[in-house]
Amino acid sequence: MPFTPFDLEYTQSLWEQKVDFNLTESGVHPIRLDELLGGDESLFNELLAAEINYPHVNGNPLLRESIAELYDGAGVGNVLVTVGAAEANNIIMQTLMRPGDELLTQTPTYKQVWGLAENSGHIVRSFRLQADASWALDVDELNAGVTEKTRIIAIVNPNNPTGHIMTDAEMDAVVAAADRVGAWILADEVYRGAERLQEEETKSFYGRYDKVLAVGSMSKAYALPGLRIGWVVGPRQMVDDIWRRHEYTTITATALSNILATHALSPDVRPRLIKRTRNYIRNGFPVLEKWMNSQDGLFSYTPPEASAVTFIRYHLDINSTELMEKLCRDAGVFVGAGDSFGMDHHLRMAFGQEKAVLEEAFGRIANTLQSIA
Ligand SMILES: Cc1ncc(COP(=O)(O)O)c(C=O)c1O
Repeated sequence: MPFTPFDLEYTQSLWEQKVDFNLTESGVHPIRLDELLGGDESLFNELLAAEINYPHVNGNPLLRESIAELYDGAGVGNVLVTVGAAEANNIIMQTLMRPGDELLTQTPTYKQVWGLAENSGHIVRSFRLQADASWALDVDELNAGVTEKTRIIAIVNPNNPTGHIMTDAEMDAVVAAADRVGAWILADEVYRGAERLQEEETKSFYGRYDKVLAVGSMSKAYALPGLRIGWVVGPRQMVDDIWRRHEYTTITATALSNILATHALSPDVRPRLIKRTRNYIRNGFPVLEKWMNSQDGLFSYTPPEASAVTFIRYHLDINSTELMEKLCRDAGVFVGAGDSFGMDHHLRMAFGQEKAVLEEAFGRIANTLQSIA
């Protein structure tokens, strides 16, 4: 069977260490260790005294408790800690998908589970988030894509790359479609907490339907991607089945990451981290928007409701991967190619950085675009 590489992550492997500005990160500028510790000496001493051992295979109980609190009705038994959302998505797919099963998912999207399904020989069907309707979900396409073989409906909400947050009606439509055929919903909610316009955190699919696996992460809303901590929250029996795959895949996340993530999700620290992320997002988007609007109609876009990225339509006659490579080579700026998300003639641009960094990077992009135009 031909192997489909994970295009976005593959291009990141190729380019992110070679450019001056990496605008492909969908999270905000990462936190430094000293900023995370915030002068907490007892935590510092705990870290120094920690044995670099295997921690609890399914995650420290205190960490799982803090994660469970983020989901109405969940308890520690509903939580499995994984090595990033990346592992969570992977072992959910391993656990659920049987020969002949189909995956139904959105487009554009972060194409991890899409690629995993294709690489295991599954049919992947998709429904659109509509570019000309502020990325609203195409409910007719969703309903048309569900078949008796649909095992999982996979969604990313808030969405990557568009930053769209589903309305209640859209969430209800996904649940109704899944319920019609008894499919599971894989709700990748790693941008929950990274809202730009609203204070209320994005609602989880967890609790709206009995067959939901909600995936979260420390990487985006908490700006701690290097911790490599993610999780799955779902029905206990299914979480235990997924845990069996976790033992085969990574065994466990690291001991130090468990300690640091527990600290990050504690009631005193979590609000500080969410605020920091939202400040980056809320201050960064106007810089991007001002720049896009100064580019003589070169771009069309719907402002994102969450996340630190915007999915932008550019009006130039050049393929998005070609343009991405040209920007890396000529401008030293790396942005996501629309191709990586299933939609050419778009770029995914990140704005979760300091203003001066953004302005320098956008200026360089403008010069390269002028040379093409
Ligand atoms: C939608 C989505 N899911 C999962 C991941 C992977 O997250 P993690 O760093 O927690 O593995 C990403 C990273 O960009 C993402 O955008």
